[in-house]
Amino acid sequence: MIIAANFKMHLTPRKLATFAATLRESLDSRLQILLFPNTACLANLPQCPVRWGAQNAYPAQNGAFSGEIGAEVLESLAIQTLLVGHSERRALGESQDFCAQKCRFYAELGFTLVYCIGEPHDVRARGRESVRAFLDAQLQDIPLDYPNLIIAYEPIWAIGTQAAGMEQIEQTHADIRALCAERGATPPLLYGGSVKPNNARAILSLSNVNGVLVGSAALVVSDFVQIMQAGLQAL
Ligand code: PGA
Repeated sequence: MIIAANFKMHLTPRKLATFAATLRESLDSRLQILLFPNTACLANLPQCPVRWGAQNAYPAQNGAFSGEIGAEVLESLAIQTLLVGHSERRALGESQDFCAQKCRFYAELGFTLVYCIGEPHDVRARGRESVRAFLDAQLQDIPLDYPNLIIAYEPIWAIGTQAAGMEQIEQTHADIRALCAERGATPPLLYGGSVKPNNARAILSLSNVNGVLVGSAALVVSDFVQIMQAGLQAL
């Protein structure tokens, strides 16, 4: 069971240290915890035996790419986990090709990748087949059989609003599972989009849901710990 948190621009290094000090008390080896703090925190991470990852990286060792971070710096900080394709980065202009390039580059280096896919509201409104086709396109050129690849299904309309319905999650995860199987792959599938303490157990009990990617509910450590406990109950 994978419980991941994307802190986005939140949590200063000091707040992250406080968060980690509490989290440490609640870790359980049956859960794989992945935390994505903002880039500034990566240079001075708190002592906490979780998998720390970067929210973004450029597909190069280093070079003239202002504002970006590359593999050389990440590896020097012992970061080997990366979030790719989050809808907030796609909204800033990251194309499918660029996301795929990032996945391939960092897969070559052995990174654990959490690759995000998810449809906007208008696609969802057109029904299950449209969603399936949209997600299929987001799986193009992704190294799906790479053993350290995790897929996070995050419907854009459910981020920071209200989680998708249980039936929608279960159906879509079944469709993603089938799309991956067509390509000979069975990556773990996370659901993300308004996961909260009060819906985590139900979501984590659905078939083909191997974990969650949590945004705002991860900012309060007691809420995140409750989501972890929901994960244990759903095992
Ligand atoms: P949310 O964010 O939990 O606040 O909806 C999820 C995400 O963007 O990964």
